Amino acid sequence: MRSEAQAVSPEGPSDPLAGRRVLVLISGSIAAVKLPLVVSALVQRGALVRCVLSPSAERLVSAVALASLSRAPCSIEADQWSHRAARPLHIELAEWAEVVLLAPLSATSLARWVHGMADTLLVSTLVACEAPVLAAPAMNSAMWAAPSVRRNWRELRSWERVLPLEPGSGLLACDRVGDGRMAAPGMLLLALESVLLAGCRRDWQGRRLLVSAGPTREPLDPARCLTNPSTGRMGVLLAQAARLRGATIDLVHGPLTVAPEWLDGLHCHPVDTAAAMEAALERLQGGADAIAMAAAVADHRRRTPQTTKLPKLAMADALRSGWEAVPDLLAGLVQRRPPAQVILGFAAQSGEVLEEARAKFARKGCDLLFANPIDRADAGFAAASNQGWLLGPGKLERHFGPTGKLALAHGLLTALVEAMALRVPVRATADP
Ligand code: CTP
Repeated sequence: MRSEAQAVSPEGPSDPLAGRRVLVLISGSIAAVKLPLVVSALVQRGALVRCVLSPSAERLVSAVALASLSRAPCSIEADQWSHRAARPLHIELAEWAEVVLLAPLSATSLARWVHGMADTLLVSTLVACEAPVLAAPAMNSAMWAAPSVRRNWRELRSWERVLPLEPGSGLLACDRVGDGRMAAPGMLLLALESVLLAGCRRDWQGRRLLVSAGPTREPLDPARCLTNPSTGRMGVLLAQAARLRGATIDLVHGPLTVAPEWLDGLHCHPVDTAAAMEAALERLQGGADAIAMAAAVADHRRRTPQTTKLPKLAMADALRSGWEAVPDLLAGLVQRRPPAQVILGFAAQSGEVLEEARAKFARKGCDLLFANPIDRADAGFAAASNQGWLLGPGKLERHFGPTGKLALAHGLLTALVEAMALRVPVRATADP
């Protein structure tokens, strides 16, 4: 079996998956065919992986392929009881796991697990396991809507050490279009990272978070624009981390450069210009408990739109004049906010971060401000990691990182929860 040092993650040294023991349990749904690629990605990122197939999954994916990709034996039903093993296999696997990926989760395995029917290797491992479990169901849409499945899923969602990953909608293998598609492989990896960083906590359950992310684009003419190198990664990871902690998310975003499956489960509102972003934010602000303004809004725009393409020779003049400042969208949100709403701003800084951040925090009037350097390789635009200062109520000044952007997202969400607790309006006591 391979050792921890054998792979270097493309996510860098702060990859939460590197060196972690991931037990992959695969039950009988056709989505099982996607799991070998997930196992391969986990191994490439330095995770230690072991796989178990349920009896029906054995008919859908090859145990030999999984053994080869995971660099470890793949366990099947016939392995459970062996006179050669000193300890029962399901106990050994359950105790080995630091985290469990249960994907796809079939209606049968869900029912068995919820009712404690430990009559297969896969379910007896689950029942014996005390590690957190990321559960990703996949089935036909009518099965997913069936009262028995609804009841079992509701029950599972209430278990503390389970992170439920709702299936999405789309074309299913049975040719129906509807709910029941297993979360995409990229989403499984992201959610697994999230479980390793923040456990299965659901402290955002019942809350709505409005996030802005990515750059805006201000047209110079129909062929050119003013923009910046923001990818939207920080804002999107913040949105996903909050979704996994139970929140409902509205994401207002400019053009993004992130894996498309990272947008799964979010209410996306794509925009282009600062004016379109402002309009979307205004429309959505009222329903939000908190706002995270992670977008890199372009600072200037044309005073009057240029409807025809400028000749090259007219460019120098056009760049010199005819521009106006874009209004500060964050300032507008702060002005209009309802009493209990909490607002997190971001600050992109070069040079000395903290001094500048203090001045910006005072100027912007938001509850929290995260200021990060943009002139370092391990922080800011397009980097996998980030670092910086969080300023907040009660003279809070806390340094984060360098750390992965998902870990930072979880830290900022915890700070938002604390700030929300401070801003809850005190209800007037009724006279006796
Ligand atoms: N922001 C905004 N509207 C703008 C510019 C910025 O809402 N027109 C928001 C950003 O989304 C971020 C915060 O304000 O949450 C700080 O953005 P930043 O670019 O760091 O600061 P600026 O206000 O643009 O100041 P400067 O460029 O002078 O540093």
